Amino acid sequence: MRKNLILVLTLVFIMVFSGFVLAQEQITLTIAGGAVGQEKETTELAAEWYMEENPHVNVEVLDTPDLATDRLGLYLQFLEAESPNVDVYQIDVIWPGDLEEHFLDFYDYGAEEIVDDHFDAIIENNTTPDGRLVALPWFTDAGLLYYRTDLLEKYDRDVPETWSELEETAEYIVEQERAAGNEDFEGFVWQGDAYEGLTCNALEWIYSNNGGDIVSPDGKITINNENAVEMIEMAAGWVGTISPTGVTGMAEEDARSTWEAGNALFMRNWPYAYALGHEEGKATAGNFDVAPLPSGEDGEPAATLGGWNLGASKYSNHPEEAAKLAMFLASERVQKMRAVQATLNPTIESLYEDEEVLEAAPFFGSLYEVFTNAVARPSTVTAPNYNQASELFFQAVHSVLTGQEDALTAVEYLELDLIDLTGFETGDPEY
Ligand code: GLC
Repeated sequence: MRKNLILVLTLVFIMVFSGFVLAQEQITLTIAGGAVGQEKETTELAAEWYMEENPHVNVEVLDTPDLATDRLGLYLQFLEAESPNVDVYQIDVIWPGDLEEHFLDFYDYGAEEIVDDHFDAIIENNTTPDGRLVALPWFTDAGLLYYRTDLLEKYDRDVPETWSELEETAEYIVEQERAAGNEDFEGFVWQGDAYEGLTCNALEWIYSNNGGDIVSPDGKITINNENAVEMIEMAAGWVGTISPTGVTGMAEEDARSTWEAGNALFMRNWPYAYALGHEEGKATAGNFDVAPLPSGEDGEPAATLGGWNLGASKYSNHPEEAAKLAMFLASERVQKMRAVQATLNPTIESLYEDEEVLEAAPFFGSLYEVFTNAVARPSTVTAPNYNQASELFFQAVHSVLTGQEDALTAVEYLELDLIDLTGFETGDPEY
């Protein structure tokens, strides 16, 4: 009896003690992520999956501003204060160069095994000159032309291949639709507010007209050229004609809401708007498709390369766990879910051959080249000053769109400001 009691007590002691040793500390990891379209919902779903597999981790998803420029402002407050409050940051494809000092090197946490699955160009973009991988690719982006299939058919028009064709088709159909009583109907909505989104739109106009990419990869300031001036002027002519006057205050989500209400013939947006636009009950459901953006008279269509990556903060209290969470979020399972549910483009090449992904987003296959040939903003060459360079650029373009400046004067001043900022020389755009 007594012997048994001792045995039982010993067993209880061993169980309790080993439990103590083995139980992992309960921790909370915070991810600062996007909330544009379905980004937040799909991040939260992935976080739930992660918590099921890692019961000692509680993952919180922090809401951040939709506009990339504002989001950067918030991130800088955390990062410059070396705050441990955010462990994983969703960072824009243009930020690794500006922000690299704040992030861990994923090669210290097993990234060697997964880098080959992702597009080389994004891995390269996220690698510092000294070989540190400061962000994992999460989803990629490229600008697309959304067009209403029903209306082009009704008016017997083709999908425009040049900006002039877009202008002409939009003018014609807007006139008809308004005459038929649809007073709110617009020809073309895009991102014309003074923020990073305008840099993306304007780069597309300019590059597609052989006007270069603002600052060339070899460090020449190329923006002051006739082809660039021509396109900025042309876009200024859209404001208040084929586009609403308010387009100069529009970001992605504003354009999407006009579009989904059925009030626009064309929209420039990223792939995330595809799944949402086809949702039941929306005026656009079943009535649109996507194509490459038009080109200038003198060039080829161009899509700006966008996309988001995951950086693990150097100031996290749980660096190893933060890196592990980021690796999970960037994994094939999560990328596939986000591709199918939210048409967020994977960065894992093999997912472009996945049947379920292609069924949800047929254009991932048909426009594959658009995604792989997208034009990069000059973030690597101007780092760590890309954000300032972009701000100078979008402010200059915005001043033309709002009629405060003519395009020639704006690019002349912009050129001088960019020389001051970067110390680079000027040069001709290369194609
Ligand atoms: C999208 C792109 C991102 C870009 C932003 C601009 O989110 O993925 O790269 O900077 O739009 O608005």
